[in-house]
Amino acid sequence: MPPLGRRRVLLLSSAAATVLAAGVAVVGTAEAASTLGASAAQTGRYFGAAIAAGKLGDSTYSRILTTEFNSVTPENEMKWDATEPNQNQFNYSGGDRILNQGISMGAKVRGHALLWHQQQPGWAQSMSGTALRNAAINHVTQVATHYRGKIYAWDVVNEAFADGGSGGRRDSNLQRTGNDWIEAAFRAARAADPNAKLCYNDYNTDGVNAKSTGVLNMVKDFKARGVPIDCVGFQSHLGTGIPGDYQANLQRFADAGVDVQITELDVAQGSNQANVYASVTKACMAVSRCTGITVWGIRDSDSWRTGENPLLFDNSGNKKAAYTSVLNALNAGGTNNPPPSSPSSPPPNPGTGACSASVTLNSWNGGYVANVRVTAGSAAVNGWTVSLTIPSGGAVTSTWSATNSGTSGAVSFRNVSYNGQIPAGGNTEFGFQGTGTGPTATPSCQAS
Ligand code: G3I
Repeated sequence: MPPLGRRRVLLLSSAAATVLAAGVAVVGTAEAASTLGASAAQTGRYFGAAIAAGKLGDSTYSRILTTEFNSVTPENEMKWDATEPNQNQFNYSGGDRILNQGISMGAKVRGHALLWHQQQPGWAQSMSGTALRNAAINHVTQVATHYRGKIYAWDVVNEAFADGGSGGRRDSNLQRTGNDWIEAAFRAARAADPNAKLCYNDYNTDGVNAKSTGVLNMVKDFKARGVPIDCVGFQSHLGTGIPGDYQANLQRFADAGVDVQITELDVAQGSNQANVYASVTKACMAVSRCTGITVWGIRDSDSWRTGENPLLFDNSGNKKAAYTSVLNALNAGGTNNPPPSSPSSPPPNPGTGACSASVTLNSWNGGYVANVRVTAGSAAVNGWTVSLTIPSGGAVTSTWSATNSGTSGAVSFRNVSYNGQIPAGGNTEFGFQGTGTGPTATPSCQAS
């Protein structure tokens, strides 16, 4: 038996009560775990830390890391300036060290961050327009492809919304390439790594306010138009308090159909620090789609907030009161993640029917992303092939949720294993990215 911290409050079922009555000692639920990661895992969540490759040789640092955490985020090593210091010359040395550390721990690795207006390499900072858009999408594609299959969740776009009351986008060189840069990035990330959860990540979105509402509206718009987005990260760089509607804010995003994650938690030192940490943890535990919490560093001395002592371990690596409050909140339990699955609907009847397809384009000067909706007719279909013509001079550069034959001229797209069956009247979607101008004619659809 592992060393015991506290025991969970037991809720005895009648069966367990019967066994007890028969004189057999039964512990009805899991015992309290003694580390953050193990405790979070009891409800299907992770508890992670942002880590720096250069600190992995520090024995205190790595001892705490490997003991306490079951997720890691590179603090700087997967950012644009680190991974593509010169255009089209990629350097994954630091990022790979973080990835391998995570793999060696059996931890989930969060990728941070594919596109951000800060920490861009110098060559990108001086770019604009189509050249920057293409370079940015190429960056997303290359980095997400390098880490394909290894990343639990990517912060695809970081901090793109403005502070203050506008609820709109922040001005940046990326924003000036066109408002659709975020969705183009998400589509490219999905194409490169279909299994990674794709997150939008920001700060000052921790309560219900104009900025978080702007992000929520983007999420709803993406969901309505089939733009791939799976999660929203709430950085939660907090002062000495927490917004009163913190949990309600998480919940309204979850209700919009995305997972939520606390991605960069740190809290200013003060008499209230432990309480704020506990409140954040309880809020996540109460929201079934809150998949985990990451603190932005391990010891106070590792924090970017110099002098604020905002983390769970002191400079010497000792557990602080905030650590205990988080562990207790995790051990108190909460909703399970993932939530219990709802009764599954019966599989659609196999059948062969007609299908149709329509294309929605998001274009910029020199390129586009196409989203294609495939709709079954009055009978279910078992598989489908969509054919269309790519205008001359252009080519398909990547495809997601389908496989293409050909890249220019007449191109066809065949379903993949998970989206071939469409029930009568139902639909599914796939997408592709291309250079030049997008297809304009209505595609044909052949059902099988
Ligand atoms: O590695 C160089 C070193 O060689 C050089 O001597 C030194 C001189 O200044 O700089 C070092 O790089 C610094 C790097 O951290 C590593 O320590 C950069 O200057 C510094 O700008 C960078 O700061 C990072 C910051 O993002 C950049 O904006 C912080 O470590 C990192 O914690 C912080 O993380 C961000 C998230 O990515 C997004 N959300 C906010 C969060 C806090 O700002």
